[in-house]
Formats: sequence, C-alpha cells, structure tokens
Amino acid sequence: MIIAIDGPAASGKGTLSRLVAEHFRLAWLDTGSLYRAVGLKMLRNGDDPADREAAEKAAKSLNPNELTNSELKTEVVGLAASKVAAIPEVRQALVGFQRSFAQTPPGGAQGAVLDGRDIGTVVCPDADFKVYVTASPEARAHRRFLELRDKGDTVTEQEVLAMTRERDARDTNRGESPLKTAEDAYLLDTTNLSIDAAFAALKVYISGSSN
Ligand code: DC
Repeated sequence: MIIAIDGPAASGKGTLSRLVAEHFRLAWLDTGSLYRAVGLKMLRNGDDPADREAAEKAAKSLNPNELTNSELKTEVVGLAASKVAAIPEVRQALVGFQRSFAQTPPGGAQGAVLDGRDIGTVVCPDADFKVYVTASPEARAHRRFLELRDKGDTVTEQEVLAMTRERDARDTNRGESPLKTAEDAYLLDTTNLSIDAAFAALKVYISGSSN
C-alpha cells in the first residue's frame, strides 16, 4: 500500500504522515528531507543553492545517513531546499530513491507513506491513496512561528509569513514538478482543524473508520 501526502510548508502533512505510518504500520519517508539535505550540503560548501551543477553533484552524492541531521529543520535550510528543488537535474537525481522506498519499503513494512510536494502527481502517480493537506498561509506561518519560538528562535511572525509565502511561490511556480493538487487527491484543509481531527479524517478516508 502506498499513501502519497502532499501539501505546502507547515500544512501539518509531516505530523499527519508520521501518525498515518505508525497507525497502519507503514514505512515513512519525509521526501522534503532529501531536498533539505542537498540544500544543507550546498550551504556548508559555501555554494549558491541555485547553482545547477553544484546542486546536481550534491544530489547525486547524497547518502541516506545525511537525512537525519537536526539542522535540516531550520528555516534557512528550508529556503535553500526550495531553491535546489526547482532544479530539474536535482529532482531527477532524487526520484529513484523515493520510488524504490515506495516499492520496497525498509524493515519489511507492507507499504509506505511518502510526504512531499509531487508524490501523488509525479513520484507515485499510482499511489493507492492520495491526500493534499493545506491550510491558509497565515495559519501555517502561525504554527511555524510557535514552533520556532519554542526552540528559542527570535524570528517574528511577520518574517515567518514572508518566508512561507516565498517558499509557496517558488514551490508552486517552478516548471518541474510544481506543488499542485493531484486530480484524484483527498483534500484536507487543516486551517481550523486540530491534528487529532485531521488525523481522524485521514483514517476514515484510508480505512473507512476513525479507529
Ligand atoms: O516539506 P519540506 O518543508 O521539508 O520541504 C522543503 C523543500 O523541499 C520545499 O520547499 C520544496 C522541496 N520539496 C519538493 O520540491 N518536493 C518534495 N517532494 C518535497 C520537498
């Protein structure tokens, strides 16, 4: 069973994907971590994330143990990730890993949950279930702001909203695999939903029951 969960930054898709994977005992791949790892590598090397050649090289040499670094979650790395993600050669270099994770999930799992921007449209167009999780930019920026504040970050909510809009614009308007809703996706707007309520809706969509 393959479950594709797409949506913009801070829509709640990461938390929901983890919960769905745990509930249905499936392997989980946060595909954003691949683009973030490439972005981080570029920043560390002092490369411009928009440099096609350097980005392609960084993507081709990516190692799975680079996907768990805690630095990957920062806003700076997220912005670099959205820049490398607009480069077609980077996407091509990363699609094989994502498809083989979906087809042959690690740990003997009977299926996989992949979350990202283009899972239902490009990476796994034949996924058994497709979800598009969204929320208003203001609601997403507010959640992200609270998370960052809890970590001691002094960024303002207005700055987080500006970064959210910048990433949305880049992810939606790029030529290669842009962020968009797959025609056959279940649309879940979490603007006014708690994580528990959103998760319950997903369980009903996938298995017909909220238990
Ligand atoms: O989901 P995230 O915030 O960790 O993703 C970081 C960036 O990576 C995002 O701005 C766009 C890119 N990305 C992508 O283009 N395709 C994916 N499947 C996942 C992420």
